Amino acid sequence: MSTPTLYDALRESHDLQRAMFRSLLRSKPGSEQRIALFTQVRHELAAHEAAEERYLYAPMLMHDGGLSASRHALHEHHQIDELIEDLQALDPAGSAWIETAKTLSKKVRHHLREEETKFFQVSGKLLSDSSKQRLAGQYRRDYQRMHRTLAAGP
Ligand SMILES: [Fe+2]
Ligand SMILES: [Fe+2]
Repeated sequence: MSTPTLYDALRESHDLQRAMFRSLLRSKPGSEQRIALFTQVRHELAAHEAAEERYLYAPMLMHDGGLSASRHALHEHHQIDELIEDLQALDPAGSAWIETAKTLSKKVRHHLREEETKFFQVSGKLLSDSSKQRLAGQYRRDYQRMHRTLAAGP
């Protein structure tokens, strides 16, 4: 069996995000379940984005050939964060909440697809095999640390 790469680690969170959004969009308006699922989604997105920015996009930015893809991805992370903030200000029982949640889900799905079909390939050509393995470990540690920090609250 080959050693898991950075991309395997990133895809694990992507699959989790897709599954979480499916459940979130099916949850009952204003239910405890909706509120709990939204917290899970927020934590997963925040932990993944932070660790991905540090261990995928920061190394990519060091290469001229990685600038454009990294900037595009970081801009989308920012747009996703803003939609999360919008949602937090809305009533989880209301229709504006589900409309915004659908917009967020679409945005995230588009972003994950673009990473999986374009940006991972761009970075795959720029980063060495040994750095990809090292970054996989660093990404996982930071992702887990972020989850612990988020679970502990402000
Ligand atoms: Fe991303
Ligand atoms: Fe990602």
